Amino acid sequence: MNPAATESTPTEQMRVADRENWQDGPPYELFKDLRGRCPVHFSSKISEYPGEAGFWSVTKAEDVLAVSRDFETFSSANGITTLRNSVLPLELVQAMFIGMDPPKHDRLKALFQRGFTPKRIAEHEPAIREITKGVLDRLEERDRCDLVEEVAQPVVSRVIGSFMGIAPEDDAAWADLMNKIMAAGDPEISPDGIGAVATREVPEMFERCSRLIADRRENPTEDLTSVLVHAEVDGETLTEHEIVMGFFLLMAAGNDSTKATYCSGMRALMEDPEQRTLLLDDPALAGQAVEEALRMFPAFAHFSRTATRDCEVGGQAIRSGDTVTMWYVSSNRDEEVYEDPDRFDMRRNAEHQAFGAGGRHFCLGTALARAELRILIEETLARYPEIEIDGTPEYVASPFVNQLKRLPVRLNGA
Ligand code: HEM
Repeated sequence: MNPAATESTPTEQMRVADRENWQDGPPYELFKDLRGRCPVHFSSKISEYPGEAGFWSVTKAEDVLAVSRDFETFSSANGITTLRNSVLPLELVQAMFIGMDPPKHDRLKALFQRGFTPKRIAEHEPAIREITKGVLDRLEERDRCDLVEEVAQPVVSRVIGSFMGIAPEDDAAWADLMNKIMAAGDPEISPDGIGAVATREVPEMFERCSRLIADRRENPTEDLTSVLVHAEVDGETLTEHEIVMGFFLLMAAGNDSTKATYCSGMRALMEDPEQRTLLLDDPALAGQAVEEALRMFPAFAHFSRTATRDCEVGGQAIRSGDTVTMWYVSSNRDEEVYEDPDRFDMRRNAEHQAFGAGGRHFCLGTALARAELRILIEETLARYPEIEIDGTPEYVASPFVNQLKRLPVRLNGA
C-alpha cells in the first residue's frame, strides 16, 4: 500500500511526485481522491529536488486530452517531466524531438517515422518471436525465475538492439546504461546517484552511439541507425547530434516501456485466474490483453508540458511558465470513462492514454510495442500456462517510470 494522503488531507499539502508516494508503485488512491475533489491540483514542490519548481497535476482523461492536443499553449520545449533539469540536463532533452515543438518537432519526427512504418514492423515480427522463444529456451531446466531480469529485459534489449543495429553482446551494457539513466532516482538501480548518471552514464551512452553512427556511415545496413544516418526529407538530412539524441530516445523508450507493460500485464494475469483462463482458452484475445495492460499500467506515469500563456485547464487558472503534468496513471483509471477502473478486464478492449493522448507527441513506437507485447504474452503463456507469482513483486521507486524491478515466478505453477 502507498502511504497516500487520505481524504482528510488538505489538497494544498499534497506533493504528488514526492518519493514517499511512489515506493510501491503509483499512488492510485491519491489520484482517485484528486480526481474526486481537485482534478487539476498544484504541488508546491518536489521535496527531494529543491531546485525544481512546483507543478500542476492533470488527473482526468478529458483534461489530459486537452493539454496533449494543444501544443501551442502547452509546450514540450522546456522539459518533459516533473524533473526538468535534475537527471538529464535540459539541453539534452531539448535536443530530442520529444523535447521540441512544431515545426521542428514534426520535421524530425517525419524522418524517424521512416524506420517505423507498419511494413517494417510487420517484417520484424518473426524475428521478435524468435528472440522471445530463444530467451524462454534458456529457462528450460528451471523451475523459478525473475520475469523482469530473465525474460523481459533480454527480450526487449535484443528487439530494440536488432532494430537499431546493436551487436547482441552489447545488449547487457546498453540495458544497464538505460536503466541507470531512466530510473536514476532508485538507489538500488543507480547506487551512485543522479550526479553519477549525468557524468558517467550519459557520456558513455554518447560515445557508444557515436561509434555505431560512424560505422553505419561507412557501412550502411538494413538497421534503423542506417536509416537515420541516410534519411532525407526535402533534401535535408539529420545532423550527427540529432541522430545521437534520436538514437538515445529510441533506446530509452524501447528498453523501458515494453518491459514494464509486459511484466505488469503478466502479473495481472497471474493474479486473476479468470482472466488467465479466458486468454488460455482464446489466445486471439492477446491483443486485448495488451490494451488492458497498457491502460492499467502505462509504462510512463506522466509527461509534462510548460504553459506558454495564461490559460485554463478543467476550469483551473494556470499561469504562463507553469509546469503542467499529465498523469496517465490517473487518466487511464478515470471513473467517468471506465466502469470499475481498477479491475483488469481484457474484454473491455478500451481506448486509453498510455501512448499519450493523441497530440503531436503521440508515441512513435506503438506498432512495435504492441507487436512485442502481444508476442511476449502469447509465447510466455503458451510455454508456461501455469506460471505463478512466487514472492513479492517490487517496483522501481519512481514517479516517472511505472515498472516492476522484480517479479519472481514459478514457471510451472505450484
Ligand atoms: C509500452 C510501450 C510504450 C509506451 C507506454 C510508450 C509511451 C509513450 C508516451 C506516453 C509518449 C508521449 C510523450 C509525450 O507526450 O511527451 C511516447 C512518445 C514516444 N515514444 Fe513511446 N511508448 C512505448 C514504446 C515505445 C517504443 C517501443 C518506442 C521506440 C522504439 C517508442 C518511441 C517513442 C518516441 C520516439 C516518442 C516521442 C514522440 C514524439 O515526441 O513525437 N515508444 N511514448
